[in-house]
Amino acid sequence: MEGIPLPPKHTGELLKDVVAQARALPNEGAVADYIPALAKVDPNYLGLAVVELDGQVHTAGDAHVPFSIQSISKVFGLTLAMERMGDSLWERVRMEPSGQAFNSIMQLEWEHGIPRNPFINAGAIVVADTLVCRYSASRTAFTQFVQSLAQNESIQVNEQVWDSEREHGARNAALAYLMKSFGNIKASVEHVLDHYFYQCSLDMSCVDLARALGFLANRGVQPGTDEVVCDPRSTHRINAMMSTSGMYDQSGEFAFSVGLPAKGGVGGGLVAVVPDYGVICAWSPRLNPYGNSHRGMFMVRTLAEELGLSVY
Ligand code: DON
Repeated sequence: MEGIPLPPKHTGELLKDVVAQARALPNEGAVADYIPALAKVDPNYLGLAVVELDGQVHTAGDAHVPFSIQSISKVFGLTLAMERMGDSLWERVRMEPSGQAFNSIMQLEWEHGIPRNPFINAGAIVVADTLVCRYSASRTAFTQFVQSLAQNESIQVNEQVWDSEREHGARNAALAYLMKSFGNIKASVEHVLDHYFYQCSLDMSCVDLARALGFLANRGVQPGTDEVVCDPRSTHRINAMMSTSGMYDQSGEFAFSVGLPAKGGVGGGLVAVVPDYGVICAWSPRLNPYGNSHRGMFMVRTLAEELGLSVY
């Protein structure tokens, strides 16, 4: 992951150009509507931010507008769980790509309730179970962790999205109960889902997310605060799993065309880690059939190409 050339100095202008190109694309894809509160978001939002390790921030479009982070929250949950659980976490969730949709249930029964990785919903629900079991107030601990990483105490849950996830969470409940039947959920399913839906329903902006995940580009040390968030081995592992599973069944294509550890969410956010440089975050709510942001993929791919950013 070394030897990535430093980008030229015109990053800010380039971001504006990339957002303009994305705006001109045809309106492909659709806003997630299986969580009805997400369907109310204006599909035309477009945001792009880069936060470099030295603290420089470049933005374009709606980079400061908070949106639902959804599955990007799984990166924060995993980081906390790896710290709390150590290697015992890997007895309950694996580190392989699933080759299935993020909310698929079939594989989980064949594989005896052990999810393929921590980024599909089943894996993130196991991670949520470990947090519920290890923290007396897991939701508060989660929020404080994210706020301190993003250096923004105003980050909070979107109550409408949280309620909507609970009301329309039958598939996640099915995943959780199936895993409970195999003994892989220890707390009550209601409690675990409550935490999982809560973390998915946090609102953050592109700048918040790019700043919050800086430690993944910096061997586990948070730029700006110098806090040791995790050790270099955990950083390596999280980035590796983002590379292989962060974009679900489109992770291969993303590695092929972009080549950066990344994580998408059905709120339309997409973060990409550039080791030794910084973090990119794009946001556009219309999703492709894999549940990844259509224009977000375009923006990250174009920016990475222009700046020559790839870990391969
Ligand atoms: O549980 C769900 O389905 C959502 N709260 C999160 C899914 C998600 O963001 C998948 N990412 N593309």
